[in-house]
Amino acid sequence: MSVVSRMDQAVNAFVARCAWFHQPMTRGRARMFALQHRLNTRQRNSVLKLKVATNCSDWDTRMRIIQACSEEVIADHQHGGGRPHWKILEDLGLRIGLKRRELQDAQPLPSTELAWAAWEGLMANRHWLEGIVANTCAERINAPGYGSGLFRKHGWFGIERLRWGKLFGLAGDELEFFELHTEADIEHSDTGWRAVEKFARQLRMEDAVVKACERNLYVWEHYLDGIAAAGDASRS
Ligand SMILES: [Fe+2]
Ligand SMILES: [Fe+2]
Repeated sequence: MSVVSRMDQAVNAFVARCAWFHQPMTRGRARMFALQHRLNTRQRNSVLKLKVATNCSDWDTRMRIIQACSEEVIADHQHGGGRPHWKILEDLGLRIGLKRRELQDAQPLPSTELAWAAWEGLMANRHWLEGIVANTCAERINAPGYGSGLFRKHGWFGIERLRWGKLFGLAGDELEFFELHTEADIEHSDTGWRAVEKFARQLRMEDAVVKACERNLYVWEHYLDGIAAAGDASRS
């Protein structure tokens, strides 16, 4: 089996087991997701993924990492009308009943802090090829084709779009945060998957990148479990 197919298999296993994808969305969970994920996308794209770029010895790949980070935290001109993704998520937070202050004052949950520490270990002091798998393996599930049923058809943020739309009575541009990711993250995650295709064999890192994919997705599962638990515990 090719190394990319093995990574796809790890991604499929993650989609199959992670409770977040299979349990119903609730107001509490959605709000906690907005609060935490705004912070998470800022941390990952202004700190963690840039450490991978720093370590990357392939110039074109390094530039694509920085380009993707810039779209997430500075300005996405291609898919986001010049706004960064965390800002578009902040605006979505307002539509589901959060105050801008609440979003801006949010603190990371202990589970989020733990995820950041784990990712630091998997991204900062690692070979860049393992790092780029860390950068992109969760964005990969926004591309259709993983999991089964509606998830397979629409990708993760495609199903969030459906769930949030139904729960909060939102439609069209109001849910643009999820819409734009289907396009943006196919591009972002292709950077990782293509780098693995191109370099894993040459660097003799086939097993290492598959392991990296599995480990990073364990952390994503912990991150989402933490949001679910805190969302369930909050009054909503
Ligand atoms: Fe994004
Ligand atoms: Fe992305």
